[in-house]
Amino acid sequence: MKQIILTGDRPTGRLHIGHYVGSLRERVRLQNETEYDDLYVMIADAQALTDNSGNPQRVRDNIVEVMLDYLAVGLVPEKTTFFIQSYITALPEITAYYMNLVSLPRLLRNPTVKSEIKMRGFDNNNVGIPVGFANYPISQAADITAFKANLIPVGDDQEPMLEQTREIVRSFNRTYHADVLVECKSVLAADVCTRLPGTDGNAKMSKSLGNCIYISDEPSEIKKKVNSIKTFPRAIEEPGIIEGNVLFVYLKAFCKPDSFSKYYPEFENLEELTEAYRKGGIGDGTIKKFLNSVIQDELTPIREKRKEWEQRIPEVLEMLRRGTEKANMTANTTLLEIKHAMGIDYYEDPSFLSEQELKYSKNK
Ligand code: TRP
Repeated sequence: MKQIILTGDRPTGRLHIGHYVGSLRERVRLQNETEYDDLYVMIADAQALTDNSGNPQRVRDNIVEVMLDYLAVGLVPEKTTFFIQSYITALPEITAYYMNLVSLPRLLRNPTVKSEIKMRGFDNNNVGIPVGFANYPISQAADITAFKANLIPVGDDQEPMLEQTREIVRSFNRTYHADVLVECKSVLAADVCTRLPGTDGNAKMSKSLGNCIYISDEPSEIKKKVNSIKTFPRAIEEPGIIEGNVLFVYLKAFCKPDSFSKYYPEFENLEELTEAYRKGGIGDGTIKKFLNSVIQDELTPIREKRKEWEQRIPEVLEMLRRGTEKANMTANTTLLEIKHAMGIDYYEDPSFLSEQELKYSKNK
């Protein structure tokens, strides 16, 4: 079976360390260390518009920002096809056919959609839930299946989308007696922790909550944000609490084997530090200082590479254009297969003409 990897992000802001730990880092690993036939990374501008319809400027402003973040973390056009969702003309058409295969209650039962509806207040104001927003899992199924992608590196919050996609794949193949569409599965980041809380302790790191460390943040901003992380107040000699401690969640996500020898030689590894912290005697200021060094270590080369690409915007846009052209060809091919399976490819199917002629030849 072909190995086709596809993933994407909504261009609503720069990408933050939550994206990095949850998905970007895994993509780079897949790109550099695994065998695959194609790796697509999509800028999901159409999906971003499903809850930003009044603010297309926000989407426009972030196409290049997100693309720069991709290049900064080490995705490269030689190995990854970057493209813009709204330019893939087959996607809304495929979405329209899938919409007939999903019931309205099933759509609204999607737990990710449900929590997003709450978060955006669509359920308790008189604006209501935009149809396009409620429909985005179906459009995401089109994104994935148009490329016959089977491996989807995303954060665990996207699992319900993939479940819905698999249901659509099965329903399509069953309904149209075809095996055109391919079932996908998620590739979760190998790390123990895939979901980073915000710097304020909120379970989700998100732009709207203002609790993000961006992968492009300047060193001074990173330091300020690390220092602002709320911790449990205690006297230094009191035992430290690990559970729910944002500092330790971040350390787990960012510590490398050499972090300790470089910045905290009193300890060998995170287990030792955790143990000592639990016993008491280590202040949160010390941990923050260490965490800051560890995060700076990881983000410095990323920020520097981003700055280089910021000086080469025409190339960046050209990369995206070329990727979009390739993606369009692939999606158009799948669209034809879909239409063929449904028997609505009238002009591409030579038997349509003869079938119609035959039907009326009896009346001669
Ligand atoms: N829903 C994803 C997000 O919010 C973005 C996305 C759109 C996506 N289409 C996709 C991810 C297809 C993976 C596959 O981050």
